[in-house]
Amino acid sequence: MTVLVLGGAGYIGSHTVKALCDKGMDVAVADSLVTGYREAVDKRARLYIGDIKDGDFLDSLFKSEDIGAVIHFAAYSLVGESVENPLKYYENNLYGTMTLLKSMVKNGVDKIVFSSTAATYGEPERVPIMEDDRTEPTNPYGETKLAMEKMFKWTAKAHGLRYVSLRYFNACGADTDGNIGEAHDPESHLIPIILQVPNGKRDHVSIFGTDYPTPDGTCVRDYIHVTDLAEAHILALKYLINGGESDIFNLGNGVGFSVREVIETARKVTGHPIPAVEGERRAGDPARLIASSEKAKKILGWNPCHDSLEEIISSAWNWHKNHPDGYGK
Ligand code: UFG
Repeated sequence: MTVLVLGGAGYIGSHTVKALCDKGMDVAVADSLVTGYREAVDKRARLYIGDIKDGDFLDSLFKSEDIGAVIHFAAYSLVGESVENPLKYYENNLYGTMTLLKSMVKNGVDKIVFSSTAATYGEPERVPIMEDDRTEPTNPYGETKLAMEKMFKWTAKAHGLRYVSLRYFNACGADTDGNIGEAHDPESHLIPIILQVPNGKRDHVSIFGTDYPTPDGTCVRDYIHVTDLAEAHILALKYLINGGESDIFNLGNGVGFSVREVIETARKVTGHPIPAVEGERRAGDPARLIASSEKAKKILGWNPCHDSLEEIISSAWNWHKNHPDGYGK
């Protein structure tokens, strides 16, 4: 049986492809390479370049490969961009997923693990956030991911497909081998931006808001190592293969760190003073996002092991200092 990974050339996708290959699984990757990188795809996987909005491309893949399950990362994921250009997100994330589901149903593939996000919750009612808490996204990115989850739910009911949706909190860090890591263009995530300072690519980091109702006034997030996320996808896949019912799981460490704490830890890890400039709030940022991942631990047997912020930032720094231009694109 082959596992088809859509978006396997992206950040979390490439780490999951490597983890699948390390476990001896047969992997095919499909990626448009619009935001992904060919170099990020493990050599043990077969890479097909194409877009999931292209039904013929997907049908031919399902016909030529012996695909038993799909892991779906192929979506746009920048919150700010989604606010400026919502239709780009609706077209890619929703139309792409609809085309994928049509092709899966047509070709009799009935298991899918899906990359979702904490952005489906919007401003949380309480922390830690549980899976059945209110979902009211505050941006089109989260809105399209929530709509994708609902598309899975109704398609599952109608066509007997089963899915697992994984709602990640703040994905970060890099594989310990140092060959793959986070590379976005332009970069908007906190840890890679901070590490651009010791890498000589910017002279300071801006802190977006210091008047939040948190202990030090800056936003608190639940940072989860990308290899722990990769492991969760494998567990979710096994859960579906073993007959598990469709379900939704949060993935986080259950511990929050403030922007100031992240910067301070990066100073310690890199030995660089990393100047920080206090600025205005960024629109749409909730004060605190912390996951309850008890459900994933209990049902999937997930056990995130990289819960120290220092270890997370060290692995990210190991990648960024050796790849200051990412994959060089
Ligand atoms: N931040 C700064 N300065 C920067 C960049 C970020 O202070 O230069 C702050 C942000 O305001 C936020 C925190 O650092 O408080 C983390 O920001 P990121 O952009 O790294 O991550 P987000 O929490 O905004 O977003 C993450 C994922 C999204 C997901 C979202 C869920 O990256 O994909 O969580 O709300 F949608």
